[in-house]
Amino acid sequence: MASIVGGVATSHVPAIGRAIANNLQDDPYWKPFFAGFPPVRDWIAEAKPDVVVVFYNDHGLNFFLDKMPTFAVGAAPSYVNADEGWGIPSVPAFTGDLDLSWQIINHLVAAEFDITTCQEMLVDHAFTLPMALCWPDQNWPVKVVPVCINTVQFPLPSAKRCWKLGEEVGKAVRDWKSDARVMFLGTGGLSHQLDGERAGFINKQFDLEFMESLIANPKWATQFSIEQLVEKTGTQGVELLMWLATRAALGDGPVRQVHANYHIPISNTASGLMVMEPRG
Ligand code: DHB
Ligand code: FE
Repeated sequence: MASIVGGVATSHVPAIGRAIANNLQDDPYWKPFFAGFPPVRDWIAEAKPDVVVVFYNDHGLNFFLDKMPTFAVGAAPSYVNADEGWGIPSVPAFTGDLDLSWQIINHLVAAEFDITTCQEMLVDHAFTLPMALCWPDQNWPVKVVPVCINTVQFPLPSAKRCWKLGEEVGKAVRDWKSDARVMFLGTGGLSHQLDGERAGFINKQFDLEFMESLIANPKWATQFSIEQLVEKTGTQGVELLMWLATRAALGDGPVRQVHANYHIPISNTASGLMVMEPRG
């Protein structure tokens, strides 16, 4: 059976792509953000994942307001970046793991999730940048399975529902007849709001409480409705749902925090980073 090596959760912001393209990692603005990643890469080098299941939200690029699945799972042989720009050099295509895609899809449908299955799927900064932060040479040594959660058009799935999704994706991986080593990557958050009267809104206290809760009391955030999460974290802060799915995928048992970083701001965003590993 496949084994789960752990989960990485990180913010995604398009400007990170421009900073990478312009080699600004040591620039004073960027350093506190990029400095969080060497320990992540060290952990990955030891954990040796073969496949990464990426929980992320599309930003109106592969899906638009006319057709918006609540949950979508990629089942494509490869995934190409088609992000909105910033002059980011194009990144190599990501190779899909079709066997794991269909294992997850079959499991989710059997578990009564009405998902959308995508045999063609473009990916955006929420997918490509966290991958580039984990594997900076962009010579992707892992296969991928994208799992997309709608956080752009209301109604959004509840935190409780996203926990359940992550839980079932984790079970699907554990039941997968493969000797592959699987990592989860959740991207989005933490608190930020890009538009409206509260543009620039950040809630450090909530973010830190949320990060701690993933280890100590992981279902803590599932008590909140989407409206409450928007109020506490900003309209785009709800992207923390990806972190919740990632944590849930690691299973019921205790989880160890391997590494964490938190820095305000990157663009309009409170950037968070965590590496978690199932204990025992
Ligand atoms: C920003 C943050 C995001 O999560 C995103 O998808 C786009 C932009 C920002 O802070 O600029
Ligand atoms: Fe985003």
